Amino acid sequence: MVERTLTVRVARIRRETPEILSFELAHPWGRELPGFEAGAHIDVKMPGGFARQYSLARAPGVSSDGRYLIGVKREGASRGGSASMHERVREGDLLPISAPRNTFPVQADGRRHLLLAGGIGMTPLLAMAQHLARRGADFTLCVFARSREHLAFADALAAPDLAPHVRLHLDDGASANEKIDLAALLRAHEDGTHLYMCGPAGFMAAVRKAASHWPEEAVHAEYFAAPSDSSVPAGRPFSLRLTQRGFSVPVAADQTAVDALHDFGIDIPVSCEQGLCGTCVVPAEGAGAEHRDFCLTSAERQHKVALCCSRAREQELVVHL
Ligand code: FES
Repeated sequence: MVERTLTVRVARIRRETPEILSFELAHPWGRELPGFEAGAHIDVKMPGGFARQYSLARAPGVSSDGRYLIGVKREGASRGGSASMHERVREGDLLPISAPRNTFPVQADGRRHLLLAGGIGMTPLLAMAQHLARRGADFTLCVFARSREHLAFADALAAPDLAPHVRLHLDDGASANEKIDLAALLRAHEDGTHLYMCGPAGFMAAVRKAASHWPEEAVHAEYFAAPSDSSVPAGRPFSLRLTQRGFSVPVAADQTAVDALHDFGIDIPVSCEQGLCGTCVVPAEGAGAEHRDFCLTSAERQHKVALCCSRAREQELVVHL
């Protein structure tokens, strides 16, 4: 389900790499699109009925036309989302999207920002880097790609205000300038430095391992899919207490809180249903939750919960619905 749908026109499609297309999305009648913060993503509903989340790859204000920019990698095994975007969407088409939502914000109090991007995971980090460049912040954007041919958004990376902050790692790079040693890069954590990562599962695991000694609150990740090593324990039944409505809803062991609420006529918007996108997050007494999402920070988990995946730690979870 796409939440708060608006319609955009596909203004431009550009081939970035053999596997990645970028799409510029504009208001159909030239009006302004809703504002957003760097790091935000939108849900795109595409031909065939698929809905996918894509990060906005350009910070607000970087382009005078105000268009949204997304990058879509064609996944080898895809018969659905990314294949539909690559094969069936043309310039001029209208697409329903959600309003932008940000579960991966730049930390406003950070003194230094280290952005690590693997492949198509560059999209949110590129927008964050542009935002930081405009603020004159201290940051480095490290981009990991197979080769120059597989480097998306090369024009944006070469922009004069960004280029001095960009480091490239190319798997086939011949010179030391084209290699980044993750362990060396992340060996020391300095107070006030924040690490942001986005990329495929193997890349995320490698960064997590190299940064395992970093404080949890300094590490921020945006996942494409739930990490495969996240062994989710079996669910237990619990009770969902709704403080505003004044009653409780039973959640069976094989049910999500979203499904249980639906049975009571209460529909919570969902999109990814994997704890990634933040669509189903509601205010809650977070300490009572067994958080199974990948989108909330530890601070947010104190007062929010993602109802598509999280459960109660004990018998009851209290949500402010
Ligand atoms: S629907 Fe995406 S986090 Fe719950």
